[in-house]
Amino acid sequence: MSKAFNIPQQVIYMCAGSKCKKRGGKEIGKLFRNMAKAAGFEDTVEIIKTDCTDRCKFAPVMSIQPQNTWLHDVTEAQATQIFNQYIRKPGKTENPSDLTT
Ligand code: FES
Repeated sequence: MSKAFNIPQQVIYMCAGSKCKKRGGKEIGKLFRNMAKAAGFEDTVEIIKTDCTDRCKFAPVMSIQPQNTWLHDVTEAQATQIFNQYIRKPGKTENPSDLTT
């Protein structure tokens, strides 16, 4: 039997293009996956790798849906803060660019 067609409450789209991967995107994606698992959000938060989003200059790039929050130049050090701010408490952020400056 196939798995159920589950629709997550939130999706983290992590660019997995070559520039983003080189600049830590792959590791950041793993961090988000681990944090979602540790928080018990496996059924509600999905992390999906995308092809290049054509924003390589700002690598690594990610977006969080359905908030349509885009983050760039993300570092591993910011991953926990991003997770807490956008995933644990979605909608609590006033200025998403605060994280990437
Ligand atoms: S490789 Fe990520 S935006 Fe191009």
